[in-house]
Amino acid sequence: MRKCDLTVVTGGSAGIGLALARRLGRPDGQLLLVARGVERLAAAGHELQCETLVADVATQEGLTVLATRLSESPRIRLLINNAGGPFRTPLLDHHPDEASRAIDLLYLAMVRVTAAAWPGLVAARGSIVNVVSVAGTVATGSAPHYAAAKHAAIAWSRGLHVEAAAVGVHVLTANPGPVATAAFPHDRLRNHRWLRHAVITDDRCAETIVRALERRRAESFHPEWWRAAGVAQAVAPGTMARLARRSRERFG
Ligand SMILES: NC(=O)c1ccc[n+]([C@@H]2O[C@H](COP(=O)([O-])OP(=O)(O)OC[C@H]3O[C@@H](n4cnc5c(N)ncnc54)[C@H](OP(=O)(O)O)[C@@H]3O)[C@@H](O)[C@H]2O)c1
Repeated sequence: MRKCDLTVVTGGSAGIGLALARRLGRPDGQLLLVARGVERLAAAGHELQCETLVADVATQEGLTVLATRLSESPRIRLLINNAGGPFRTPLLDHHPDEASRAIDLLYLAMVRVTAAAWPGLVAARGSIVNVVSVAGTVATGSAPHYAAAKHAAIAWSRGLHVEAAAVGVHVLTANPGPVATAAFPHDRLRNHRWLRHAVITDDRCAETIVRALERRRAESFHPEWWRAAGVAQAVAPGTMARLARRSRERFG
């Protein structure tokens, strides 16, 4: 790795993205954090003594700003596609915009930011971490647009892993389970007698993602036992639908 190699973290001002940036640091290169909110981003940049860029990756305008910055870096060693947020509107409320907003942020932003970073990633034979979700592998009743967009993201990320390997770029699809963050507090789970053990911290999530990246894994779950949820969805979809209905009744 060269000193000028860039690491980019979208959604790097809070939660999992900031925890990843803290763990990766910038020992041998530059670090660029991207988010919309100026204050949190400035605080993160100050803490990590790194560059920040205010950009909404779900909009064309934000993508243009980011693409312009990335074009100035000939070598990108790591891109972390992490920007995201909850989309909890129930399907039956029929908010037509909610589906496209979820797709724009949770799926298309990954595709578009990756395209903008691609020349630099290929030049550095770098890596990409796509922060997707266990919700991309199972049916959930509580946030259907979120789950649908994460299903799209996971399929794309798995495909990209294969294509990118041909030019020496490594792609990790990282699927966290519940992580306690500002946008996803998981209060009901955290207040439950035993389900609270299913919720991990952003730092724990980041630690295990970095480990999976160092081992050059294709896909990881955080914690790893969440992999079983996708297997159960494939072999017992009826049971998973029943569990999703019960969990929705209980946890909303
Ligand atoms: N927490 C969980 O339980 C969990 C589980 C599985 C997967 N995930 C995924 O992990 C990722 C990070 O979530 P988190 O829990 O760490 O949430 P978080 O603490 O709210 O952090 C989200 C980050 O993304 C940024 N962001 C949101 N919308 C953006 C946009 N349009 N353009 C640029 N930046 C944007 C936020 O800053 P601004 O709001 O200032 O832009 C913030 O820096 C998301 O993709 C989420 O779906 C989370």
